[in-house]
Amino acid sequence: MTNDNLTNEIQGALQSLRWNGQQLDLLDQRLLPEEIVYLQLDTATQVWEAIQHLKVRGAPAIGIAAAYGVYLGIRELDAPTNGLLAEVQKQADYLATSRPTAVNLFWALDRIRAHAVSLAAAGVSPAAFKEALLDEAQKIQAEDEETNRLIGEHALTLFEDGFGVLTHCNAGGLATAKYGTALAPFYLAKEQGMNIKVFADETRPVLQGARLTAFELQQAGVDVTLICDNMAGAVMSKGWIQAVIVGTDRVAANGDVANKIGTYSVAVLAKAHGIPFYVASPLSTIDLNTPTGGDIPIEERHEDEITQGFGKRTAPKGVKVYNPAFDVTPNEYVTAIITEKGIVQAPYSENLRKLFE
Ligand code: MRU
Repeated sequence: MTNDNLTNEIQGALQSLRWNGQQLDLLDQRLLPEEIVYLQLDTATQVWEAIQHLKVRGAPAIGIAAAYGVYLGIRELDAPTNGLLAEVQKQADYLATSRPTAVNLFWALDRIRAHAVSLAAAGVSPAAFKEALLDEAQKIQAEDEETNRLIGEHALTLFEDGFGVLTHCNAGGLATAKYGTALAPFYLAKEQGMNIKVFADETRPVLQGARLTAFELQQAGVDVTLICDNMAGAVMSKGWIQAVIVGTDRVAANGDVANKIGTYSVAVLAKAHGIPFYVASPLSTIDLNTPTGGDIPIEERHEDEITQGFGKRTAPKGVKVYNPAFDVTPNEYVTAIITEKGIVQAPYSENLRKLFE
């Protein structure tokens, strides 16, 4: 299996975002699967808004978009290099307020900040400074693609021909630079002629599973069956599921995993049925500075997502609503975490730390 083969396999796939030489082209994921619209973003404010309103979503894709956002935030400024550096810090602080849970956002912004500091220390010209920041954003994007390919290879060693595998939310090409994390092994399996039946939870309330996972896997010719979230237990009890694999927005130092709301329920169901529960996570999603899942900030989103998602009112006006976008799966439910550096198992506190040594 070569990288080229995989690239060919999904070359028709939609890219979540791409630099067009002048602007950031960003696929508006709110409109999928019905409309394929690329927005052209020119400013950091537009990038902030795109992240906040889920036009771009998925932990790695958010980080990549924010990295470009910092560049867009400074590129028109006429200032000496130190002035540009101060503005980078400001723009990064601003973009960091767009969403709280996915640590890739902060990881990418920190990487851009650190790069800016070292460029300024080296005394580069303002023009070279700007160009180098754009390069760094493009590097983050290219590295994500390679990382996901490796995650896919490691993950596929855990699956066998004929497996039914359940996934929740969208941790696919649309959530990343390419291939996805949790969905990467499905593309590889297809390429290798392995038969894997994917079951995609629709993922209430904004349906990333139905609108995005089912869409991108179907486009690539992967065998995918869409189910409602509340059917996961039923398909497991029928013996149709041999493994679960999901992505993540942040892995705490002890191996607790934050991911799309509903993931925790799937993990509990998997344990009850003796099914392994795998988490695909690049190192950029592992946050050793967050000790446990209880320390991960969980985003709460607008009640309209539940009461009138997609414009149709489905709940009485004025009803109390609780709408957390993510939940935490405690580490004891996690069979393994699959990274670009290999597969990690408990004890997570020790083994996750080793990845960074
Ligand atoms: O609210 P979203 O759509 O950004 O949530 C995305 C997820 O929960 C994904 O599973 C996670 O970010 C991993 S993407 C590789």
